Formats: sequence, structure tokens, C-alpha cells
Amino acid sequence: MTTQPAAGASRLKEQGMSVTLPTQEKIVFSQVDKLFASPSKTGDQVRALVGLDLTVHKSEIVSIVGPTGCGKSTALNMVAGFDAPTNGSLRLDGKAIVKPGPDRAVVFQQAALFPWMNVLENITFGIKSRGVAKEQYMASAEKLIRAVGLNGFEKHFPYQISGGMQQRVQIARALISNPEVLLMDEPFGALDYQTRILMQQLLLELWREFKPTILFITHDVTEAIYISDRVIVMGARPGRVKLEVAVEEPKPRSLDFLTSELFTGLEHQILETVQHEATASHAAH
Ligand SMILES: Nc1ncnc2c1ncn2[C@@H]1O[C@H](COP(=O)(O)OP(=O)(O)OP(=O)(O)O)[C@@H](O)[C@H]1O
Ligand SMILES: [Mg+2]
Repeated sequence: MTTQPAAGASRLKEQGMSVTLPTQEKIVFSQVDKLFASPSKTGDQVRALVGLDLTVHKSEIVSIVGPTGCGKSTALNMVAGFDAPTNGSLRLDGKAIVKPGPDRAVVFQQAALFPWMNVLENITFGIKSRGVAKEQYMASAEKLIRAVGLNGFEKHFPYQISGGMQQRVQIARALISNPEVLLMDEPFGALDYQTRILMQQLLLELWREFKPTILFITHDVTEAIYISDRVIVMGARPGRVKLEVAVEEPKPRSLDFLTSELFTGLEHQILETVQHEATASHAAH
């Protein structure tokens, strides 16, 4: 495993700007294995993750890329508390994760909104059912609806809005309980290119305001570099970390960053490892 030197950080220091690197450990995977029973009843086990070591710091955005089936969703689901490691430890703020909690919110590729509820009702359903008073959550809902650009659409039903807008609803719904951790599994994977870029910029703006810790899974290397403080490349199954690079560019980022030397250098380095792992993955199947 190699880590890219903090080129951007030293550049900022040269310019006399201080860089505060995140230090508080938020999510820590230590030697995590995850084995699944094979559905084919042959007695074989699926080794989804083997010896995964990964630390995500408070308010950091970390993306995971890697070939299909390498265990990205498995890792994210364990942080969400949907599943537990077979061996090793997985901790949030130093405590073992045992179940889902309001401190973590998950955003999936498909919006999965309630079709019979309008935008506002979808956003407030979870917080309402937790018994929070209406006066309290309505102020947050209105603020978030403005932040994700859905003002004027509060009364629309999911079928009356676009896929991008549905993902905005899902993000607002995730953020309304002010979670410390946002877990995003290919959240923009089903969106067209233009909408994706808008959503990436929106995510960085929301990050600036709420400073959540974000674990983000994507197949899109450009997206991973653009939004992240660190990009993790996982290897072909059984999954473990193959490469880790720091993206030392202040956030939010302008579109110019996409054509900068720093960006293209990181992209090249990451793509090389991704290609290598994808080839290994195909050879194994
Ligand atoms: N509940 C389960 N039971 C059995 N095997 C599972 C289960 N969940 C995942 N797996 C297996 O674990 C491996 C990792 O799956 P996972 O969904 O984490 O991959 P991924 O990296 O998210 O892939 P993709 O990029 O396609 O989403 C796969 O071989 C998958 O078949
Ligand atoms: Mg997945």
C-alpha cells in the first residue's frame, strides 16, 4: 500500500496558508474479515473481505473504488450496522458497531422514496417517526430543501420529479437528523453526466455546511478524486486496500481542478491500480 505525499498541503504552506489535516479517528476497520455462507449449499464460503484495515477521520471524505464484487458495499453496510464482521474489529468513535443508529445515514444508488408521500413528507418521515417535534424538524427541513435546491417542489410526489431531484430528496432525508456519518453507496451512479457533476458540487457545499464524515463508494474515479480527501482502491475479491491516495486540494473544488496537473496525476495512478485489479478480478471468474 502506498500513500501519495501531501503535495497540495505543502503548496498551501508555501503560500502561507495553514492546513488542518483531520486527525480524530471516526471509523476504524482493523483486520476485518467478512465471510458469507454460500447460497449454493456447497458448504463453500464467499470471502468478501480479508484483513481490511481502513481508518476514516472525523469530517473526512473518503471514497472507495474497486472492481465489482470486491466488498465495497459489504464494508459500507457493516459501518451502517446492517451486518457484522466475521473477524477483526470495526469501531465508530472507539466503540464497536453493533447496530444501525441515527448517528449514521445511508444513501443508496436508487432513491427508494415512498411513492405516496410528497417531497416534504419523504424528507421528514424518519425524524417525525423518532418523535421529534414538528416545530423543531420543520426549520431543518426548510433549510435543507433550500440547500439541495428543491424549494417549490415540496408538494410534488416522487413520480413528478427527475432522478436527480429524487437523489436530492434522499440526501436531504439523510441529512435532516444531522448525522455525523454519511454512508453513500454509488449515490450518483444512475444519474446522467451533467446531473452527476451538479450533485458532486452540491455534496461538497453540504459538506462545507454540515461537516459530516463521508464514506463514498463509486466506480467513477473522476468523481472519487473530485469529492474526496482520500481515495481508497480495493483489490479483487477477497477485498482489501491496494492503494490509498490523499487528494490535497481544498474543498469545495472548482471545475478547474478536474484539469489540473494534480488531478490528472492522481487519476493516472488510481486508474492503473483499478485496471490491474479489474483484470485480476476477471481472471478469477
Ligand atoms: N448477503 C450475502 N450473502 C452471500 N454473499 C454475499 C452477500 N453480500 C455480498 N456477498 C458477496 O460478497 C462479495 C462482495 O459483495 P459486495 O456487494 O460487497 O461487492 P461490491 O464491491 O459492492 O460490488 P459492486 O461494485 O458490484 O456493487 C460478492 O462476491 C457478493 O456476492
Ligand atoms: Mg456494491
